[in-house]
Amino acid sequence: MTLDIKPIQNEFGAIVANYDFATPPERAPIAEIRAAIDRYGVLVFRGERAPTDEEHIAFSKMLGPIELGQIIKVTGFDRRRVRYLELVDVGNLDPDGNIFPADHRRMLFRKGDRLWHADMSFMENRATYSMLVGHEVPPMGGDTEFADARAGYEALPDAMKTLVDGLVAEHSIWHSRQLAGFPEPTAEELESRPPVRHPLSHVREGTSRKSLYLASHASRIVGWPIELGRGLLAELTKFATQPRFVYRHQWRRGDLVMWDNLTTLHRGTEFEDTKYRRDMRRTTCRERVIEGQNAGYA
Ligand code: OGA
Ligand code: MN
Repeated sequence: MTLDIKPIQNEFGAIVANYDFATPPERAPIAEIRAAIDRYGVLVFRGERAPTDEEHIAFSKMLGPIELGQIIKVTGFDRRRVRYLELVDVGNLDPDGNIFPADHRRMLFRKGDRLWHADMSFMENRATYSMLVGHEVPPMGGDTEFADARAGYEALPDAMKTLVDGLVAEHSIWHSRQLAGFPEPTAEELESRPPVRHPLSHVREGTSRKSLYLASHASRIVGWPIELGRGLLAELTKFATQPRFVYRHQWRRGDLVMWDNLTTLHRGTEFEDTKYRRDMRRTTCRERVIEGQNAGYA
């Protein structure tokens, strides 16, 4: 199978038409998909129908060690709506399929997705690709925006590049949740996910362009006073997410959008989330096989 790829805007984002998610792994064009995501950062697979949960998971497993299960403990999220542990439920529906009330901890937690971020930057073993399927999408709003962190890096003045290249940032999920108004984490939550450190710029393995690696989970610059570090992180995030670096995805039911968390940033946007249903399920690949987890890597 060859992919039918159409760039969306210059070198950022591309649409892949009519990919057949029923293709068995041994016949799937894996090298082509990797080359396309390395080039475009975001791929929109748009076809006649949505991949099933099983196809979504099988597709993701071809591309890296896949995340299985809950990586953070959020108090009050005890029952799951989606059946497979590989799927992160990022919609607004409770286990019975009803829209969560606005003040539910789960709704507050997901508000954090509306800040620019890279999935799982708060983990040592970071997320590489995320694959999000829109099973039910609101009639308006609820778009997802993506920013090209390579173009953002390349556009920095040389002196800023040099500064950034020497810095390391600390990332914590609780930092971004608090920015989004989520209450002080409980002891159980804090303990489930302590902060980690990553260089502020990097070249993704297997590619040649350098990109920024930061955004809302980044809480401070190592060795800098907190406020000064936050100021620089905010300034760089603002720079990298200027409209000229952004693709805004308007969802159609059934889309599978794949992005590379090591070279792009993303955020959800507002919609009437207590009125309209949004059923979105995500798989996430990781840099390395996950310790103690039987990560099927086909
Ligand atoms: C995600 C995410 C944003 C959205 O699934 O990682 O940030 O628009 N989603 O649902
Ligand atoms: Mn995300």
